[in-house]
Amino acid sequence: MSPESPNGRLSGDAILAIDKAHIWHPYAAVNSAAPLFPVKRAEGCEIILHDGRRLLDGMSSWWSAIHGYNHPRLNAAATQQIADFSHVMFGGFTHEPAARLAKYLVNLSPEGLQKVFFSDSGSVSIEVAMKLALQYWLARGDKSKQRFLSFRHAYHGDTFKAMSVCDPDTGMHSHFAGALDEQIFCAAPACAFTENWDEHFIEELKNTLHAQHTEIAAILIEPIVQGAGGMRFYSPHYLKRLRELCDTYNVLLIADEIATGLGRSGKLFACEHAGIAPDILCMGKTLTAGYLTLAATLCTDEIATTICSASPGVFMHGPTYMGNALACAVACANIELLLESDWQAGIKRIEQQLERGLAPARALASVADVRVLGAIGVIELHDPVDLNAIQPRFVDQGIWLRPFGKLVYMMPPYIMNDEQLAFLCGRTIEVLQTQ
Ligand SMILES: Cc1ncc(COP(=O)(O)O)c(C=O)c1O
Repeated sequence: MSPESPNGRLSGDAILAIDKAHIWHPYAAVNSAAPLFPVKRAEGCEIILHDGRRLLDGMSSWWSAIHGYNHPRLNAAATQQIADFSHVMFGGFTHEPAARLAKYLVNLSPEGLQKVFFSDSGSVSIEVAMKLALQYWLARGDKSKQRFLSFRHAYHGDTFKAMSVCDPDTGMHSHFAGALDEQIFCAAPACAFTENWDEHFIEELKNTLHAQHTEIAAILIEPIVQGAGGMRFYSPHYLKRLRELCDTYNVLLIADEIATGLGRSGKLFACEHAGIAPDILCMGKTLTAGYLTLAATLCTDEIATTICSASPGVFMHGPTYMGNALACAVACANIELLLESDWQAGIKRIEQQLERGLAPARALASVADVRVLGAIGVIELHDPVDLNAIQPRFVDQGIWLRPFGKLVYMMPPYIMNDEQLAFLCGRTIEVLQTQ
C-alpha cells in the first residue's frame, strides 16, 4: 500500500497506519488499541482533525501553547529567523535571539537569577539544575552533599535524575528499582492555597532538614502548583518557610517553573505568590508557546562563579541544540506578545470563568473536588477515568482534554474567550454526567 495521496500528502488513515506500525506515543504500548486522532491543522484555540472535526483545546498542548496555535506574530518570528539562520552551534558562537531571550528571562524572573543555561526540554533543564547543584557543592569542597530532597506527588520529568525526584509511588521508581538514585522525600505541601498557615504543615520538612542537611545538595519543588503528580495548589506560606529553611540549613532551592512559568498560576512566576527567589529556576513548556522545544535553567551569580572557580573550571554540560536560534527567536516573540497584553487581567478572567463553568461539577456523585487557580481548572473524581473510553467522548463533544488517573483538568490557551470557556466547561461536565 502506498500511503501517499496523489498530491503527496498522507491521508488521515495512512498516517494512522504508519503510526500504528512504527511510532511510540507518550506512556503507551506499541501497536496500542488506544484511540489516536490525526491532526490536520491548528488555529487559535482549535485543533482540526483530518476528518474535519474541530476540537476546542483545553490542554494548550500540555501547558505550552499559551497564545493558541498558528499565531501570526510567532509565525513571523519563526520565518524571519529561518531566513537568517535556524541554528548554529553554541560552542564558540552566540547570537541575537539567545542574547535577547537571556535578557528577558533575567529581567522577568525572581531577583538574583543572573545566569542562563539553555537546553532542549523540561527534563533536561532539571538534569542541568541538579548537576549545577552538585558541581556547586563539589566546587566548595563539600563532597557530602550529593542527594536531593523532593516531595510526594512531585513530577519533574522522565530522564533518570529527574525520575529520581518524582513521586516515589506514582512515579516510575518501582519500574526502575535499583537504577534510580535514592533521594529523600517529604509529604507534599498539605496547606491549601488559601488555607491559614500553621507551622505544623512544615514540621516534617524541618525535621528532615535538621537530621540530613549535610547530605542534601538541593530541594526541588514545583512552586504553588504540583502539576502532573496531582494538580494540587498549595499555600505560598509553605514556599516562604521553605526558602527560610533552605537558608538556615545551607541547602540550595531549585524551583521547577516548567509548567507554571509565564503566567499560568496568575503570576508571571509562581514563586512570586510567596515573594521568594530560588537559587536555581527551570523553565520549559511555555517558553516557545508550543512552537519548538526549548528550556532554560537560571541560577545566581554566586552559584555560577563558584562552579567556575574550581576544577574543572567550567560547567560540564553542552547539548548540540543549545541556544537554538529559531526557538530563541520564537521565545522572544512569545514573551513580547505576553507582556504587551493585559495578561494578568486575562488570567483572572479565565479563573473566574473556570470557577463559574466548573461549579456544577461539584454536584456530581462521581466528583470528589473541583479546584481552580489562575488558568488551571481541575475536577478530581473518586475513581480513575478510563482514558481510552472517555477521550473519544470528549472528541465527540468537540473538546480536547487528556485526563490522567482521577483528574480531569484543563489549562486553556490564554486567548480563549468567555464563550469558548463556557463551552469547554459545559461539555466536560456533560461527559462526566453520563459516565
Ligand atoms: C513541573 C514539570 N517539570 C518537568 C517536566 C518535564 O518537562 P518535559 O516534558 O519538557 O521534559 C514537566 C512536564 O510535564 C513538568 O510539568
